[in-house]
Amino acid sequence: MDFRNVRSVAVLTGAGISAESGVPTFRGEDGLWRHYRVEDLATPGAFRRNPTLVWEWYDWRRELIANCQLNQAHLTLAEMEKALPHFTLITQNVDGLHRRAGSQKVVELHGNLWDVRCVAEGTVREYLDVPLPEVPLRCQCGALLRPNVVWFGESLPAGAIAAAQEAAMSCDLMLVIGTSGVVHPAASVPLWAKQGGAYVIEINVQRTPISTYADEVVLGPAAVEMPKLWAEWRKALE
Ligand code: OAD
Repeated sequence: MDFRNVRSVAVLTGAGISAESGVPTFRGEDGLWRHYRVEDLATPGAFRRNPTLVWEWYDWRRELIANCQLNQAHLTLAEMEKALPHFTLITQNVDGLHRRAGSQKVVELHGNLWDVRCVAEGTVREYLDVPLPEVPLRCQCGALLRPNVVWFGESLPAGAIAAAQEAAMSCDLMLVIGTSGVVHPAASVPLWAKQGGAYVIEINVQRTPISTYADEVVLGPAAVEMPKLWAEWRKALE
């Protein structure tokens, strides 16, 4: 890849980029809380049946994430955005670590667990208190608040998917970092980039369905491989 020819970059990140910060991935062994599976907690049905349980789980995750440190992969992406003219970061992560690292243009496909939404009014606001003062959280209007994330069975925010599509189809380089590439429509993002003529580089500790069509597959931890890739890139620009 000749980095001197790159005009526009899009990046798709998944849980693997935060793995070295200590945030559990979804499909790893460490993703369990008590004896529940993610699929039994992150659903509208689970929240209807037991909002307290679902909020307890988010309270646990928010506290865990609040105690995590950013890693070199988050920091490198924030640095790249400052240095490159057209740069869009698309993430499936709800941990908010890209924002914390200073990334500005972030498309959050699955929302963010530091935002809450009133189930009656639909209003969204940031809510950073850890631990939560009460579970379930309630809005001033009396209705329940929920984490502003996308749950299983829900559709993605239309604006986010449109922004991801636009960035993927117009970029010349797509980096795909730490995603298993099995959850759609997010998993389609690198495919849109490929179909739009972009060069696709995947960084993951193991091969995924995306590896079959990526132009380059870098096998290794994101926090090690991203600074290496960026160092090589900057050298090419000198
Ligand atoms: P997964 O848990 O499915 O996949 C994590 C990926 O990261 C795997 O492919 C790992 O091989 C890779 N990985 C692990 N450690 C890594 C490291 N140190 N460096 C690089 N890669 C590493 O997570 P996602 O693909 O993000 O959706 O999952 C997608 C969606 O599934 C999530 O956003 C979530 C879940 O359902 C919602 O919550 C809506």
